[in-house]
Amino acid sequence: MKFSNTIATAAVAATCLLALPASAADEPKGNVEAAKAKVSMCIGCHSIPGYKASFPEVYSVPKIAGQNEKYLQVALRAYASGERTHPTMDAIAKSLSAQDIADIAAYYTSLK
Ligand code: HEC
Repeated sequence: MKFSNTIATAAVAATCLLALPASAADEPKGNVEAAKAKVSMCIGCHSIPGYKASFPEVYSVPKIAGQNEKYLQVALRAYASGERTHPTMDAIAKSLSAQDIADIAAYYTSLK
């Protein structure tokens, strides 16, 4: 949810530990299938399976397919929290729930 996206990444794990039963992982579990309905808005730029830019003439888009799951989650939370900034990615990351981020990270990680 928005709350956990807006706090610093470092605080997320601690917050989740407080908010969830001890048995739960510190983050929502990513669901690759669920992500397929959520990545349509990423494809234009982070085209699948081609890692590179749809708009190379404007900026180069980093490869996210096959990236480490944790890395992707951290990057998306950093955009959402403002720790990392990019006009488009900020807006996109802020629109994602914690579950969306987990799902999307699992999905892109699965693209090897
Ligand atoms: C309008 C084009 C565009 C769209 C749409 C877009 N991205 Fe991005 N994305 C970028 C650009 C450009 C960067 C590099 C920004 C920077 O330099 O920080 C980036 C960076 C990222 C990064 C960080 C990669 C790294 O190596 O640090 C992640 C993760 C990411 N995007 C995920 C997504 C996801 C998930 C979606 C869909 C929900 C999405 N992006 C939609 C353009 C886009």
